[in-house]
Amino acid sequence: MASHAAFASQYVDIASDDAPTRVARMLARDGMVTFDRVYQRQSVVRLALRLLAPWRHRDADADGVTVISDRGFIAARPGYAGFGARGLEPHTDSSSLDLPPRLVMLVCGRSADRGGESYVVDGAAVYHELTSRSPELLKALQQPRAVRFASHWGSVFETVGDGWMRIRLRLDGVEHFTPPVAEAVPVLRAAIERHTREIVLLPGQGYLLDNWRMLHGRRNFRGPRRMYRVLGDPVAGCVLPPGFAPSPGRALLPQQRIPECPAALLSGEIS
Ligand SMILES: [Fe+2]
Repeated sequence: MASHAAFASQYVDIASDDAPTRVARMLARDGMVTFDRVYQRQSVVRLALRLLAPWRHRDADADGVTVISDRGFIAARPGYAGFGARGLEPHTDSSSLDLPPRLVMLVCGRSADRGGESYVVDGAAVYHELTSRSPELLKALQQPRAVRFASHWGSVFETVGDGWMRIRLRLDGVEHFTPPVAEAVPVLRAAIERHTREIVLLPGQGYLLDNWRMLHGRRNFRGPRRMYRVLGDPVAGCVLPPGFAPSPGRALLPQQRIPECPAALLSGEIS
């Protein structure tokens, strides 16, 4: 999908009256929301505090924001590739934690001189495709404790309560796939490629995605690209289902209907 089309299809005007409801519903339905007009770091913080309960990530500053830019040699350290200028393979943020943060918010502070396009991959679409195309390989990808991401042993697709699914992946050299999974990885990569949607974020534009469903990455870049990232969990009153549905047609169970976010969630000045 063209980058502008992907951004437009998920766009929510976060200053609009019905924004809270639309953000919650779109996150639950599609796993991602895009927005714009968030130009300053303080505005990123204000919006983040309305959208999520921020985590204190290893690389974040005191305000919960991690500035992602090319910091040179730091990127050579295992697990720090984000702080270089090279592209990032599709991944889950904080994949080595037992329970990664549910939400990833990324806002463009400054564009690259060249390259640096963001992209997202719907893990639900990848899972649904593999269900019909490669069910045996999919079994390997669901096998518990068959994959190691840094210190975490788990699976690429994990079944959680009542059959809901979650995806977890990294391909930055810190991963280890046991033999049945390693055989499935080329097929997984091909499916990921087919479901990759590029999103060019201009200054002030950003996305909020479900880190348990969507993978994300970026292309190589050159220049002073600067992105603001905040990791966190949904705010109270904005509950998401425990994962994505294992089949596209599955309806949400009554107890898992998505409540609307508090009306005041996104009100107020944002930039
Ligand atoms: Fe990331």
